[in-house]
Amino acid sequence: MVAVDHFGGGMDHHIDPIEKYDFNALEARFRSNISKCENSSKLELMKMSSDDALLKLRQAREEFDFIYIDASHVAIDVLHDAVLCWRMLKEGGTLVFDDFSWKGYMEHCYNPRIAIFSFLRCAEPELEYKETESQVWITRVPNRLKATRNQDPTLMYGEDELRIFFNAS
Ligand SMILES: C[S@@+](CC[C@H](N)C(=O)[O-])C[C@H]1O[C@@H](n2cnc3c(N)ncnc32)[C@H](O)[C@@H]1O
Repeated sequence: MVAVDHFGGGMDHHIDPIEKYDFNALEARFRSNISKCENSSKLELMKMSSDDALLKLRQAREEFDFIYIDASHVAIDVLHDAVLCWRMLKEGGTLVFDDFSWKGYMEHCYNPRIAIFSFLRCAEPELEYKETESQVWITRVPNRLKATRNQDPTLMYGEDELRIFFNAS
């Protein structure tokens, strides 16, 4: 069992924070809560950014039955965590995204949602999902989406789609 946290908070704890956080207390509370658990000795705490931790775990060829993503809320960070975690999730395993409905900022790029949508579309052949109040629960399944070759050479993506995409918010 592995937990990853640099205990430095996320962007929303530093830019115009709604509440002031005491990050020393955060780590101490985590350690105190964990010490009360029956199987606390089985937990490895990686006190570092998820970027670094997930790369290390992947390099060590680790695999997991259950992964819970609830670190940075910034979309590119969430997407990065998701992609690295996906490669380490066993078939039949569960990946949970927290904060699917969290909207701390007006720009999509500072909220998890667009990253979760993007990930769901990209990993679609190998997943089943269920949305709860503000989480998405995903089960990794064997690939169940056959690729359909495009037989029509005139059928292409529209030239203006990137501009339309960026303006549609
Ligand atoms: C949204 S809170 C979730 C806390 C915890 N899951 C809970 O419910 O109390 C985010 C936590 O992720 C950590 N965090 C934020 N960005 C991170 C990153 N890029 N890498 C590692 N930890 C991060 C913060 O230090 C904070 O403890």
